[in-house]
Amino acid sequence: TTPSPKSSNTVWHHATVTRERRAKLNGHKSVLLWFTGLSGAGKSTLAHALEESLYQMGYHTFVLDGDNVRHGLCGDLGFSNEARVENIRRISEVAKLFVEAGVIVLTAFISPFRADRAKARNLVGADFFEIYCRCPLDVCEERDVKGLYRRARAGEIKEFTGISSPYEEPEQPELVVETSGRSIEDCVEQILNYLIQLGIYE
Ligand code: PPS
Repeated sequence: TTPSPKSSNTVWHHATVTRERRAKLNGHKSVLLWFTGLSGAGKSTLAHALEESLYQMGYHTFVLDGDNVRHGLCGDLGFSNEARVENIRRISEVAKLFVEAGVIVLTAFISPFRADRAKARNLVGADFFEIYCRCPLDVCEERDVKGLYRRARAGEIKEFTGISSPYEEPEQPELVVETSGRSIEDCVEQILNYLIQLGIYE
């Protein structure tokens, strides 16, 4: 790990309790399941529903969720392009720590920029899995669970993803989950089947 200039006088401490040993103790490996998609596409809903299933099966999990993280760790950030880049950078670093701690991490952020998702992937390595919650904009807008689309259309919210701020679709995600016109259970089953293929659990 190359320290940033501001932390050049620090030394990386090597733990004796390694990720491999944690995995052995836990009985499963740790991965990062990176959900991405428009607001209202179902990222948080699916991440939490999947977490519930994994928890009931005895897995160690944790969800990092857009709305929640923005109350604390990223409470100082807005929604400009620069702020979103910083938001995803911090989340990527935190997610990496959770993965090292042996946890199956589910992140649910719009993460609209390909470059930032690629950085997260590079940081975490082979255990990064991009799950694209695909839902047409008009369906997200129709759902408008939080009333944000209406406010964005009315000009009350600036730089709203899909309306006045871009969303760059994943080009080669590990998994595409079409959330329009499907039940949550159906989508969760699709992801669980994918995890079986990966060999994360039997
Ligand atoms: S990002 O782009 O990844 O940094 O965004 P994220 O941290 O996931 O936060 C998205 C949630 O914030 C609410 N919200 C907005 N979203 C998009 N654009 C604007 N301008 C905005 N303002 C507030 C919204 O509730 C998002 O939640 P989800 O769960 O995605 O609907």
